[in-house]
Amino acid sequence: MNIRCAKPEDLMNMQHCNLLCLPENYQMKYYFYHGLTWPQVSYVAEDDKGNIVGYVLAKMEEPEPGEESTHGHITSLAVKRSYRRLGLAQKLMNQASKAMVECFNAQYVSLHVRKSNRAALNLYTNSLGFKILEIEPKYYADGEDAYSMRRDLSELASATNDRPLDHIQEMMEERMVITDHRVFGHGGHDGHCC
Ligand SMILES: CC(C)(COP(=O)(O)OP(=O)(O)OC[C@H]1O[C@@H](n2cnc3c(N)ncnc32)[C@H](O)[C@@H]1OP(=O)(O)O)[C@@H](O)C(=O)NCCC(=O)NCCS
Repeated sequence: MNIRCAKPEDLMNMQHCNLLCLPENYQMKYYFYHGLTWPQVSYVAEDDKGNIVGYVLAKMEEPEPGEESTHGHITSLAVKRSYRRLGLAQKLMNQASKAMVECFNAQYVSLHVRKSNRAALNLYTNSLGFKILEIEPKYYADGEDAYSMRRDLSELASATNDRPLDHIQEMMEERMVITDHRVFGHGGHDGHCC
């Protein structure tokens, strides 16, 4: 099993995985909006044959009033049923969060989750250190409430700051190669984010 940054050619398989796993689905242009605008922060898990078995689709948000810097947001996360409880979601989320810090200096990452989604709530709270910020009533199209959650990324930021400078230089060069392929665009989505 391999976790790597998502490429534009992965986006259709990510959408396929989303359709299998979640009721919140998005038009293809919304995947491209993420993948092309912030290519650094979405990740996929692939099996030994290169099939996509899980993904995290993520984006960056403008600072809220009173905040100094941008923060990350998880739009969607899913792992195919037969690949669950192997730690893949945890790894995908950690990789995406690390990239948000390294590439965009993100202070925190936010997401929404259904109140009834016990598996995801356990993952976010127990394994990843997310905290519930508030309840958003009737957030989902079927009327279910969402927990709005946040994970403080300052610990990841200090780990990044502790690295030797030449490592950071290498990392920036790597990211710039990816960023050079960016094409900007905007598209709406149907349904609410995870
Ligand atoms: C939620 C989901 C992404 C978890 O993926 P996963 O790869 O199985 O998660 P991990 O293996 O990384 O699990 C890490 C921890 O999360 C918690 N967890 C994961 N699945 C769980 C479940 N079914 N029940 C209870 N806790 C669970 C556990 O604490 C687990 O640690 P452990 O296995 O050591 O006990 C997956 O179940 C899924 O795709 N569900 C459908 C889509 C979805 O709900 N996405 C989230 C939308 S907000």
